[in-house]
Amino acid sequence: MCGIVAYIGEEQAFPIVLKGLKRLEYRGYDSAGIALINKEGLLNYKHKGKVSELEKHTDKKNIDGTIGIGHTRWATHGLPNDVNAHPHLSGNENIALIHNGIIENYDTLKEGLIARGHTFKSETDTEVLVHLVEDIQEHEKVSTAEAVRLALNNVIGAYAIVVMSKDNPNQLIAARKSSPLVVGIGKEGDFYLASDATPIVEYTNEVVYLEDEEIAIVERNKGLRLYNIQNQEKTPYIQELEMQLEALEKGGYEHFMLKEIHEQPRSIKDCFRGRLNVNKGWVGLGGIKDYEQQLATAKRIIFVACGTSWHAALVGEYLFEDLTRIPVEVEYASEFRYRNPIIGEGDIVIAISQSGETADTLAALELAKAKGATILGICNVVGSSISRITHAGSYTHAGPEIGVASTKAFTAQVTVLTIMALAIARKKGTLNEAKFRRIITELELIPEKVAKVLESSDYIESISEIYKDAANALYLGRGNSFPVALEGALKLKEISYIHAEGYPAAEMKHGPIALIDEAMPVFVIATKGQSYEKVVSNIQEVKARKGKVIAIVTEGDKQVKAMADHVIEIPDTDEHLVPLLATIPFQLLSYYIAVMRGCNVDQPRNLAKSVTVE
Ligand code: F6R
Repeated sequence: MCGIVAYIGEEQAFPIVLKGLKRLEYRGYDSAGIALINKEGLLNYKHKGKVSELEKHTDKKNIDGTIGIGHTRWATHGLPNDVNAHPHLSGNENIALIHNGIIENYDTLKEGLIARGHTFKSETDTEVLVHLVEDIQEHEKVSTAEAVRLALNNVIGAYAIVVMSKDNPNQLIAARKSSPLVVGIGKEGDFYLASDATPIVEYTNEVVYLEDEEIAIVERNKGLRLYNIQNQEKTPYIQELEMQLEALEKGGYEHFMLKEIHEQPRSIKDCFRGRLNVNKGWVGLGGIKDYEQQLATAKRIIFVACGTSWHAALVGEYLFEDLTRIPVEVEYASEFRYRNPIIGEGDIVIAISQSGETADTLAALELAKAKGATILGICNVVGSSISRITHAGSYTHAGPEIGVASTKAFTAQVTVLTIMALAIARKKGTLNEAKFRRIITELELIPEKVAKVLESSDYIESISEIYKDAANALYLGRGNSFPVALEGALKLKEISYIHAEGYPAAEMKHGPIALIDEAMPVFVIATKGQSYEKVVSNIQEVKARKGKVIAIVTEGDKQVKAMADHVIEIPDTDEHLVPLLATIPFQLLSYYIAVMRGCNVDQPRNLAKSVTVE
């Protein structure tokens, strides 16, 4: 949700910032802009649309300078146009500011500033903030850094900002509250600032993740200084980045999404590496080891998450309830935070989030923590806000997910949830040896079985061709395949813009069956297991109304094959693990359909990854 990048050092800032923006474009692509300071003064280039538009727009312009800030926007306040694009300048055009987040009291601040003679060009909350800094600097006669600090003391909302001023072209000022910001410490006294580490990794692996209400000042010859907004100096905690540069490239694939779908045999393996030992009959998650006992005796577990991560939580509900016999609730973080949720002693709240930055999930966790709950996290992005505010947690180790539609993060979340449920079940004694052995043996085989499903890509592409022009689609599943149906429908709608609904298969007769006619593709998960026969009946109900059935079945299935229009086979596995395989064909189907419809698969309209606003 908006990406910010900044650089100060000996190199030319423009190419570094531009490249950084391209890496962060998954966070928003409504507009892009870069401001630089050089001998001519403060230059500000910004343009509606993608970073490539900005690049065209700046061709043959003066882009000289060794200090610069850049922004790629996901619009909150104001239309996505040139004027509302960041960076925003102060009235005297001395100060430039980029911002990710929302200034909630911007209206009140704006009224006060207008009364003091300020005029505004854009409709954004960000322009208000840069005018506030200017106003304070003029009236209090303080440095820009001090004016930023004082301004932030007047701000309600979320922000990650970087500020630079013509008055001091050797300095960048950055701050964060509820929106992420990382400082990269370069080898030659240069500094990189960004919303996440992806623009930084090719220059340095030494980083400092800013905490809420911290201000970082990076200055040539003076290095990095860190303060809280009360102006107390703090010691920066330098961490080493583990990210690999290749993980940020498309690696020969046409889109990140396709690359990430194909990475799943490896990402699932990376996820259980060191956490699963079939020979010794052992599973465990180092990150939550100290909380295993508390989890085993928990009266209730509440999962909070959004979107795809919420679907993973639903799979988790099936796993935890069946294996550990602990009651589980799955909550949309955005709903949970605005209720007055009942959280009692012995409850554990677990947040699931790829980015670890989703505003609603963060707020839900903070609420649970304030009510005395133990809060745990399952995140993909190392060092993210959720991973830092939780008492403990486990990373999914899926590697950077750049495609806006989540794929490998989902299967990694389900893998962590499986291991967690197994470990707790063993501790509690709710899982017998034979069943435990069967599940872990099958879990270890999942990467190769995912690879097998991926071999059906061409066949799935041919099915996609048939249904690419559908106006609607239904996804049906039962038990732990119901969340897979929801996830399949979400994937299709978000990247191909086809309206799709996911339902528990048996619910169809309570309403959605009215939608079925010969134009309606119905995607059904009909794998071997407890509900197989019931799903077969549901398929018959669809066929009786001339619906088109595309079924995901277990290898060798004959019964569904005889009824369905198309079947996609997946290898047999333990029933608990079916979501890890059944989700793959749905990811591929949405991908191919979206490509065939000419949609921008990696950057679907109106969306952004890492939703750091409410
Ligand atoms: C869908 C998708 C979103 C995210 C949701 C939560 O493909 O990516 O629905 O799952 O925005 O994001 P995280 O997991 O980062 O909290």
